[in-house]
Amino acid sequence: MAAHPFLHPFASPTQPESDFVDIVGGSGAIVTDANGNDYIDALGSLWYCQIGHGRVEMRDAIVAQLDRIAGYNVFDPFTNGPAARLAEMIADVAPMPDGRVFLASSGSEAIDTVLKLARLTHQRRGDHDRQIIVRRTGGYHGTNFGGTSAQGIAPNREGWGDLVPHFIEVPSDDVEALATVFAEHGPRIAAFLTEPVQGAGGVLMPPDGYLASARRLCDQHGALLILDEVICGFGRTGNWFGAQTFDVAPDLITFAKGVTSGYLPLSGVVAARSVCDTLESSDEMLRTGYTYSGHPTCAAAAIRNIELIRDEGLCARAEHIGNEFVAGFEAMQSDGVIGSFRGVGAIWAIDVGHDALSLRSRLLDRGVVVRGIGTAIALCPPLVITDEQIASVIDTITDVLASR
Ligand SMILES: Cc1ncc(COP(=O)(O)O)c(C=O)c1O
Repeated sequence: MAAHPFLHPFASPTQPESDFVDIVGGSGAIVTDANGNDYIDALGSLWYCQIGHGRVEMRDAIVAQLDRIAGYNVFDPFTNGPAARLAEMIADVAPMPDGRVFLASSGSEAIDTVLKLARLTHQRRGDHDRQIIVRRTGGYHGTNFGGTSAQGIAPNREGWGDLVPHFIEVPSDDVEALATVFAEHGPRIAAFLTEPVQGAGGVLMPPDGYLASARRLCDQHGALLILDEVICGFGRTGNWFGAQTFDVAPDLITFAKGVTSGYLPLSGVVAARSVCDTLESSDEMLRTGYTYSGHPTCAAAAIRNIELIRDEGLCARAEHIGNEFVAGFEAMQSDGVIGSFRGVGAIWAIDVGHDALSLRSRLLDRGVVVRGIGTAIALCPPLVITDEQIASVIDTITDVLASR
């Protein structure tokens, strides 16, 4: 029998459609499958659902915009109120004063755009040789050709033929190695690209002082610092952006995911004032952008989502979630159930010391959604998850690990 037409991302092409869990509903931190089973969504779908599922405020905001006009482009000569308002709101909370906001639809589009903007900035400054992007081992930056080339997860780069040139990889936690790359290639480096916390790579925290050192090296060698905030942005680490949590000043950031909590697709780039000054020094057209850049219905969703994050204090709530998790993890650790754990705010990983994929499946059977990455399981729940639900996640993991 021919395979089902639906070809899933990041799944085996031989896996039958009937094997997948068919999610049909959601409310808060709970999702429900087609058989009526409930799960605690301890991954916020795919690291994105800050405000929780099923929010009626979001439906109302989206429907209100649909009733005006669903979509319209923002290429010259057009704009729309929701896109412009959203740019103001993001610029207000971003870690770069007087920055400007470019809008797209996916994290991968944001990454492609940020790589182009970094190179363009140097071109416009007359520094034509600066094309190198330094990436970190373990980094995940989406799957367009730019993001695939920027990946520090080697298997994701393989099998596609030639990628974008001029990327250099550094081991993820080695400041000396980064300094060496800058010493050897400094005048040709356009930017250093990193996530504040490497998410898909396994919730890998930057070593103390690492991001500050990267900032210093970029300054010394005239390169730009790009922070990929696609997972860390919009409250996940306890502040609006990871840059604020780790107290580092980027030149460019990307965002996606939590900006709409996934209710509709939207992403973008924030450029710091120094980059904007360069771009604004010429009236030459910015020849990049997407049909759905500034899509008004997606922008309306993002506006309402950001209001909810702000009004419900969800950045602070992320810290509370972190404290609850840590208390649970410490108990698991002292009982010998887990090895180590790591994270910040509401993004965590616990290392179980063996392949975590089967654990992920057993947790799914027990009604908890996590992600298995190597020997760790990742947790990144909606920021509205209740204390009872956190306790239930901890209890279920403990139980499943104990009954191994
Ligand atoms: C840090 C980071 N950057 C970029 C992306 C790509 O985003 P998208 O899948 O929306 O293209 C992801 C997706 O997980 C991500 O985690």
